[in-house]
Amino acid sequence: MINKNERQKLASAASEIRKKAYAPYSSFRVGASLLSDDGGISGGVNVESSSYGLSVCAERNAIASALANGKRKFLALAISSRGAVTPCGACRQVIHDVCGNIDIILGDENGNIREITSTAALLPEAFGDKDLD
Ligand code: THU
Repeated sequence: MINKNERQKLASAASEIRKKAYAPYSSFRVGASLLSDDGGISGGVNVESSSYGLSVCAERNAIASALANGKRKFLALAISSRGAVTPCGACRQVIHDVCGNIDIILGDENGNIREITSTAALLPEAFGDKDLD
C-alpha cells in the first residue's frame, strides 16, 4: 500500500480535478486520479452526454488518459465525490482489467479520505483475462 502522504496527495488531486467535471445532466461531479509506478498522476472527470447512456465515469477517463500517456503499471486510484461513493460496476471491471488489484481511495469533495479499499474487495471473483484462454 502507498504511504499516508501519497494517499493524501492522490485524494487531493482527485478533488482538485473534480472541479472540471462535465456533469450538466446529473450535477453529480466526480474526479479520479490514478497513480502510476513512475510516480505520475493521471486525472479524469465524468463527462456526460445528452444521450445519458453515453456518459463516461471519471475513473474510466482517468484510466484512458493514463494509457494514452504510455502508463502501464498502477499503484492506486483515488476518487472524489460528494458522499465518497464507490466506483460503479463497469468501472470496477475496467480497473480490474487495466490496473489489477490496487488500492482504491474513496474521498469526499474536499479531499478528505473516508475509506481505503481495493479492486479485489470491490470486485470479488472477477472475470478477467485469465478466463479468455
Ligand atoms: N459517476 C462517476 O463518474 N463515477 C462513479 O464512481 C459513480 C458515478 C458519474 C456518472 C454520471 O456522470 C454521474 O456520476 C451520476 O451517475
